[in-house]
Amino acid sequence: MVSKAALVGKLEEARERTRFLLDRVSEEDLVTQHDPIMSPLIWDYGHIGNYEELWLLQKAHRKILSKRELYDMYDASLHPREERPSLSLLDRRDADLYLDAVRKAVLETLKDADFDGDDPLLKDGFVYNMIIQHEYQHNETMLQTLQLKKADGYRPVSTVELPNGGTVEEEMVSVPAGEFVMGTDDRSRALDNERNAHVVDLPDFLIDATPVTNAAFVEFVEDGGYERRELWDPTGWGYIKQEGITAPKHWYQTEPHSWWTERFGFDEPLNPASPVVHVSWYEADAYARWAGKRLPTEAEWEKAASWDPYTGTKRLYPWGDEEPTPAHANLDQLAFRPAEAGAYPAGASAYGALGMIGDVWEWTATDFYAYPGFEAFPYREYSEIFFGPDYKVLRGGSWATRPGAVRNTFRNWDYPIRRQLFCGFRCAK
Ligand SMILES: [Fe+2]
Repeated sequence: MVSKAALVGKLEEARERTRFLLDRVSEEDLVTQHDPIMSPLIWDYGHIGNYEELWLLQKAHRKILSKRELYDMYDASLHPREERPSLSLLDRRDADLYLDAVRKAVLETLKDADFDGDDPLLKDGFVYNMIIQHEYQHNETMLQTLQLKKADGYRPVSTVELPNGGTVEEEMVSVPAGEFVMGTDDRSRALDNERNAHVVDLPDFLIDATPVTNAAFVEFVEDGGYERRELWDPTGWGYIKQEGITAPKHWYQTEPHSWWTERFGFDEPLNPASPVVHVSWYEADAYARWAGKRLPTEAEWEKAASWDPYTGTKRLYPWGDEEPTPAHANLDQLAFRPAEAGAYPAGASAYGALGMIGDVWEWTATDFYAYPGFEAFPYREYSEIFFGPDYKVLRGGSWATRPGAVRNTFRNWDYPIRRQLFCGFRCAK
C-alpha cells in the first residue's frame, strides 16, 4: 500500500533539499555553464519543475499548465548541454514561482490518483516515485557541477560527522560459484533498466572488501601507472595522452609524495584512507591491471552486494531490506565527501563486502545493456537510447546520492572517459 501522505512528504522534502543546495549559489553561478558537459544550474532547476509538470500533471492527469515552448526549453533530448546556456531560461525568481505552481497543482491532482487501477504509470504510485527520484538525481548532478565550478568555492556546510575507517580484515572477500537473481520485478520504485529479475550463474570470484583507496591509487601513480602503455586500454591511453592526464581529476602535487585535492574549490591534503574519486573507467581499468586484478562485472558487483547465500534470497541493500540510515552508509550529500574505506561495518553485504552503497559510485567492467525481457517504461529516453557499447555501468551510489535514489539493483551509466561523477571503483579477481 502506498501512502499518499508519505509521497507528499517525500515530494516536499526533495524540494527543500534542491533549494538548500541552490540557496548558497550566487545568481551569476546559477546561470554560468561551469563545464561543457554540465548544464547551467538554473536549467536543472527549471527542468526539475517541468519534468514534474510533464509526468505528474500532463501524463498522469491530462492537465497542462505551461506553454509548449517551456516544455521544449527543458526537454533534455531536444537541447544538448552546449545549447542550454543560450536558452531564455526562467531566472531564479520565476523558476521558484513556476515550481510552486506545478507543485500546487500536483498536490491537488494527487488526491484523485488511483494507485490500484490498471494504469501502470499510477499503479502503486510509480510515477510519483519516479519524479521524486528524478529530483534526487538532479541534486547529485548539481553537486557534480558545483565540484567542477572554477574560482570561488561553493562553501558546503557539512552537517555530518563521518565515522573513521575500519580495519579491514581481508583485502578481498570470496564469493563462491553459483546462481543468484539479478535485477528486480518491482514496478513501484525500480526504473525500467533494473527489470526483469533473471537468474545468473557465476563462477567463483574474489572482490575487494572496500573501494580502492587514495593511498593505493597513489602507489599506482608513483609507480608510473600513467606512463605504462601496457596497462591501458588503447583508447584510454590515447585519451590520457591527448588530454595530458597524469592523476585523478582534482588531484595535484605540491612536492614529491605530497598529494592534495581540491573539493568544491577548497584545497585539502588527500586523505589516504578514503576511496579514490573522480577517476575515469580507463583509469580504473589500468589500475586494476597494474594490481594484477580486473574490474568486477556488473553481475559480480550485484551478487556481492545483494545475494544472501544462507537464505538464497536477494537483499534490497547490502545489509538487508532496511532503508539506509547513517549507520549503514555515507549517502545523502551533507557530508560533502566520501568517508574512509571500511567505515560502515553495519553496511556489510552477506559476503562481507563493505561500502558497496554510498561514498563513491563504482565502475564495473560491463557495457550498459538491457536485461532479458526489458521493456522501455515509461519512455525510451530514460534508458533504452543509451544501451550499447558506448557506456559503462556504475553501481552503488555516492555520498552525493540521496538514499531514495539508490539500491542494489540501481544502474547508472556514463562514458568511460568521464570523471565528473563521484566515481571510484573496487577490483575483482
Ligand atoms: Fe532530468
